[in-house]
Amino acid sequence: MFSRVFASKHASRALLGATGAVGAGMVYTNLNPQFTERNVAACDADPNSQTVLGLLQNISQKVSNIEILLGGGSGTTSSNFPSTAVAGSGKGIDIVLGAQWGDEGKGKLVDILSQEYDVCARVAGGSNAGHTIVVDGVKYKFHLLPSGILNDKALCIVGNGVVVHLPSFLNELDSLGGNGISYNGRVFVSDRAHLVFDFHQAVDGKQEDRLGRHKLGTTKKGIGPAYSSKIQRNGLRVGDLQDYDYFERRFRELADHHMRSYPGLEINVEEQLAYYKSIAPRVQEITIDTIALCNQQFEDGKKILVEGANAAMLDIDFGTYPFVTSSNPSVGSVLTGLGVSPRKLRGIYGTVKAYCTRVGQGPFPTELPITTKGDAGMHLSQVGAEYGTTTGRARRCGWLDIPQLKYSTMINGYTAVNLTKIDVLTGLEQVKIGKAYRYKGKYLSSMPASLEVLGNVEVEYETLPGWTEDISQCRTFEELPLNCQRYILRVQELIGVPIRWIGVGPNRLDVIDRGVGWDLSE
Ligand code: GDP
Ligand code: IMO
Ligand code: MG
Repeated sequence: MFSRVFASKHASRALLGATGAVGAGMVYTNLNPQFTERNVAACDADPNSQTVLGLLQNISQKVSNIEILLGGGSGTTSSNFPSTAVAGSGKGIDIVLGAQWGDEGKGKLVDILSQEYDVCARVAGGSNAGHTIVVDGVKYKFHLLPSGILNDKALCIVGNGVVVHLPSFLNELDSLGGNGISYNGRVFVSDRAHLVFDFHQAVDGKQEDRLGRHKLGTTKKGIGPAYSSKIQRNGLRVGDLQDYDYFERRFRELADHHMRSYPGLEINVEEQLAYYKSIAPRVQEITIDTIALCNQQFEDGKKILVEGANAAMLDIDFGTYPFVTSSNPSVGSVLTGLGVSPRKLRGIYGTVKAYCTRVGQGPFPTELPITTKGDAGMHLSQVGAEYGTTTGRARRCGWLDIPQLKYSTMINGYTAVNLTKIDVLTGLEQVKIGKAYRYKGKYLSSMPASLEVLGNVEVEYETLPGWTEDISQCRTFEELPLNCQRYILRVQELIGVPIRWIGVGPNRLDVIDRGVGWDLSE
């Protein structure tokens, strides 16, 4: 046991050194003793080159790693990477975030990891999220419930930053019972979480209709209107149901406000109030101060996992505004949506689909047309089954976008990447990676705020050879076809974060975990 921990800590240090020291031309070296070099692709700038220079660079890197292992290396130390203020205490909140435009496969990783966590929490967004998990061929779809619900020992928390449509939430809970999943005593919702009412959803639809061909393509789950009520300070919170008279007065005011603002909007106030009165006792049973609970759980040494919803490019501040959601799906929402200090954060896991998808409107630089059978766009859409979990809409598809991922990495500070759906690329003759943006002939050094610019960038691509072998049964990196390894290593090199998990299929077990040596938080 001791030697395993010892070995993995040192492997991790070596990885840190390799990351910082080599920069753009770096090589990640797995120091696992079972590592079969023979079968592993070199991570050269040119994936096809097995040149003498490439081999020398490789050897030099490995020597440098060994030096670091022995304690005398000049490689970069862990101080170059996000440190956890709780380092050494063994405590820390780990977070799974969407690194692109959503639907990267966050739910699957949360489901896998949650088996080892005591608490699993949602911190932002609402039922616009759709997380699909497949266990033994059975598909589960969650919108408001944390995907950790499938671990029957985990407490599941809906934090204060989430907006909750109670009818949907209770339906989700009821459907758990139908699937034989017991949730009594382990699902809690924050008394401070704001409520989404049916009229918020109706207004979401009306706003989209008003925008006509300029619509945002929202999920019509009432997310924008509910967060608007929160910010306008006339919203209602889950905890308000504990004092029905107060709830009733505020509800009438809010409903009036909406009917005045949206002529033609009809709200059956009495029917709504009767409904909320009827569910109040059930809701009260699960309403708690989640801020106190989470912090206490942390102090008690319990392991806490946060399931991010939506994604970095949909962030109201960092995304492609106004084609975004109305919350902050980036790392900041963990602090504001759960009520924990930044000093308590540890692993920040960026979930990256091996290509890109987007639902709804807005710029998408690496987008491919989905028109002709046999084309890459059609391949990604069909093989990847790219249809929304929440709305069933066809997702737009495109190649992986490195400038976008670097931007998302800069904001969220990923300690490891969860690369999903690499199996979907199987069968493509060539795989492309969008490497840089050019606008009017000039390279862009950062993500432009202007949609006019982002919508008209020219993407520079790197093309890598594809692979045809079925990879769904691969459980180690070394088992993957060489061209697949090359693709992964190239992505890792370009974004500069170790890829710890590699998804090779939709099932819970279809994943390669390269272990703690591939996670800077350990
Ligand atoms: P989320 O919103 O980020 O949780 O992602 P979604 O659940 O909306 O969409 C991801 C889809 O991809 C789901 O249907 C998953 O079952 C599926 N999925 C996740 N990881 C993999 C993978 O590695 N390979 C394949 N083929 N499917 C995956
Ligand atoms: P998960 O958690 C993909 C998109 C919508 C729309 C925009 C605004 O499953 O990754 P909203 O209803 O939030 O006001 O819509 O944001 N969107 C998502 N797209 N996955 C999601 O969540 C999304 N949540 C919001 O399609 O373009
Ligand atoms: Mg989704």
